[in-house]
Amino acid sequence: MVLSVHDNPKVQNQYENWPYPTPIKTLDDFTKPGGFLLGDPSFEFFNIWPEGHERTLSILVAGCGTFQAAYTAWRNPTCQVVGIDIAKTSLAESRRLKAHHGLDNLEIKRLSLFDVASLGQAFDYILCSGVVHHLPDPVAGVRALSNALKDDGVLHLMVYGKAMRTGVYMVQSLFKAMGLGQSKKDIALAREALQHLPKGHAVERYIAISPELEDDAAFVDTFLNAQDTAFDVRDIYDLAEAADLQFQGWSDRHRYSVMSTLNPGHPLRETGLKLSPRDQAIAMDQLTQGNGRHLFWLRKKACDPKRFTPDFTSEAFWTYVPIPSPYLEIEGPIATGKAGPVLAHHLGTIHPLSLASQLFLTVADGSRSIKSCLKALSERGAQLSDESEAMTRAVFQEFYERGHIQIHMP
Ligand SMILES: C[S@@+](CC[C@H](N)C(=O)[O-])C[C@H]1O[C@@H](n2cnc3c(N)ncnc32)[C@H](O)[C@@H]1O
Repeated sequence: MVLSVHDNPKVQNQYENWPYPTPIKTLDDFTKPGGFLLGDPSFEFFNIWPEGHERTLSILVAGCGTFQAAYTAWRNPTCQVVGIDIAKTSLAESRRLKAHHGLDNLEIKRLSLFDVASLGQAFDYILCSGVVHHLPDPVAGVRALSNALKDDGVLHLMVYGKAMRTGVYMVQSLFKAMGLGQSKKDIALAREALQHLPKGHAVERYIAISPELEDDAAFVDTFLNAQDTAFDVRDIYDLAEAADLQFQGWSDRHRYSVMSTLNPGHPLRETGLKLSPRDQAIAMDQLTQGNGRHLFWLRKKACDPKRFTPDFTSEAFWTYVPIPSPYLEIEGPIATGKAGPVLAHHLGTIHPLSLASQLFLTVADGSRSIKSCLKALSERGAQLSDESEAMTRAVFQEFYERGHIQIHMP
């Protein structure tokens, strides 16, 4: 394979020598202990197309690594999936999983995403995780992917987050200055050097939440990478604009919303709630410093954003169908009104549910509209008042901002 003129051969060498993520034996080995990949249409269909879409999708997994394409084909058996990558080892792993799981809906090709046009195909959905930030020219990469999207297609990207990785880049720069490469000997030296970092170094928090760093491939990917850059929220909006796309939404939107990040009583909550979604995201990213990566969806510019943006003040709100997130787990005896909190666990967050929220969760079954949810509650004896409408809007907006529900806007 000839690399695209846009590619950096050092990146290819790195992923051939240190395939990442670390290969898994079977997909069950990944999912049984609770592993999943965000952006999966089988889990997040209405986050991707709130307006609805055909279920049989053509999907491209660009820079598929060792198992993302196989996982996607396995979880979405009615969809046709193409996985491309420039590293032979990643492709060999993907082919092994294809054979092991009998994935007839998966094609694996050695191809740079810069050359995706050579496939002569337009896709409904493109997943590209952990790749764009390793490209010498991320905008050119996203443009190439955008050109391979259908008009109503959606691009899901994961890029590194600046806020959480500031210390990582300090350490990378230190290791570069010391001439460290990616050999076993250099990895051992780098690991030892990290033991001697001064207390309170900016990388501490990142290391503390990254147990995978024990693995050499993850260590190289983080601290000895041939090329990587990180993005903040402004950079992401700029990236979309430069690639002639528009921002659609965050995969884990609770991290970017004032409503879900600042509890009532926080001194900045009321002012923060008045900011635009973009400015809320900028502010929350900076406040929490908790995003080591950003996962989000982009669309073609021609698509009317009203198609994918729920409006909680609109008349159409009553026709929306709330779909509980597959990542949501409820702890406690729901809607009994008995003492003790009922907790919503969602993607690492824990949030106590009000009694009204609990009641709505008992009727939001993924098929009822919000209007039917309210009717069902009233048939079960709930007392409705003048405030019920405003309260219903507030409950569902909060569910949505916390990511507890997806919304289908038929
Ligand atoms: C960090 S891994 C991520 C793998 C996978 N997307 C995942 O999330 O598990 C980055 C992958 O992108 C691949 N890659 C880098 N540049 C590429 C390009 N221009 N075209 C296709 N793949 C590329 C690398 O070979 C590597 O397998």
